[in-house]
Amino acid sequence: MGELDIRNRHFDRLFSNSSLVWMGQNTNHIPMHPKVREALHAAVDDESFHAYAPPAGIEALREGIVADLGLEGFSALVSDGAVAALGTACRALCRPGRGFVTTDPSWKWPLLFARQAGMQITEIPIYGAEHGWRLSPARLAEAVDGKIDIIYFVDPNNPLGTCASAEEIEGIAAVARRAGATLIHDSTYRDFAERHTLAARFYPEGTVTAVSFSKWLGLAGLRLGALVARPELLERIGASSMAPLGANVISQKAALAGLSVKREWMATVQEIQRANQATVKRAVDKVPGLSVAVYPSQANFLVVECEGTGLKPEAIVAAFAEHGIQVRQGAYHTARFGHRFIKVSTTVPREWAGAFAAVLPEAVQHARGKKDLPPLF
Ligand SMILES: Cc1ncc(COP(=O)(O)O)c(C=O)c1O
Repeated sequence: MGELDIRNRHFDRLFSNSSLVWMGQNTNHIPMHPKVREALHAAVDDESFHAYAPPAGIEALREGIVADLGLEGFSALVSDGAVAALGTACRALCRPGRGFVTTDPSWKWPLLFARQAGMQITEIPIYGAEHGWRLSPARLAEAVDGKIDIIYFVDPNNPLGTCASAEEIEGIAAVARRAGATLIHDSTYRDFAERHTLAARFYPEGTVTAVSFSKWLGLAGLRLGALVARPELLERIGASSMAPLGANVISQKAALAGLSVKREWMATVQEIQRANQATVKRAVDKVPGLSVAVYPSQANFLVVECEGTGLKPEAIVAAFAEHGIQVRQGAYHTARFGHRFIKVSTTVPREWAGAFAAVLPEAVQHARGKKDLPPLF
């Protein structure tokens, strides 16, 4: 069986388990806002999905996305998820032999797209207290030379949950501008941060902001995201789109409804997910050898360091799986630091965080006996 089939069966097993406690992919499982539910039902009932959506997105949604970011004079390209949007940006901007800089850890798929396009990848280590778990503009500047075309910056960082300060963003944008590089500011988790600063404010002509409706609104399976940039840059990127027939119509209508209730919805989500962070932290602190790397996280997940237990993250993930709880092994994010942590997502019903906390001591015990670990992705 090929890797694709093995990986697919793994996720199919998870997906088919209707009682699975999803705490591994930063998806949002908090029951949706009634306005979004209404919009989804209406979008099915009116059968408008027989038509293709406009190629760059329903105009009201494009405007809503730009207005939500508060960026005047910018334009949006709506896509079936941020990952597709990032794929389009990579298709448009990557050139063989040129440089692509990101952090380690970062989010793996854009690195893969860039590598496939023949780019040289540089990953700046930011894992560890010695780096403050964050990217400083000075360390970015050291890594950037005349060959760098793209800086891919995930902020808040997935998996660490650190968010750059306004000063750091200004510095990072300045490095990108000096290098003449495009700054892809992956802001998928921005809505969970106490304060998030858009790099586009400091480097408008060279920044591409990626946003997603998977995490804050909970539309992961519906697939909806976008790129936002100045019209000239977006035009260049849009020319490489693999989706000239537009994005999912039903998802776009749900996204529009979500934007209309965003403030109220996020107040609810944040209250729940921050309480869940606290629940996870309390449980972790009671287990010798475990600790939370960054707390509170500025995103909807926590990195739990497990090196002190002497256990492989994969063994802990496998032990949780036996209790119907999905958490993620660090190796998904980083080859260099993956052996040091698991990641636990917190946009879930409170009972799920409670289940994680209750199972944790036992899962660590069970993990000790685990020998043949199944492949994880
Ligand atoms: C940093 C980052 N960017 C983008 C995405 C993908 O978002 P979407 O579901 O909109 O494709 C994810 C999903 O985990 C992510 O972590």
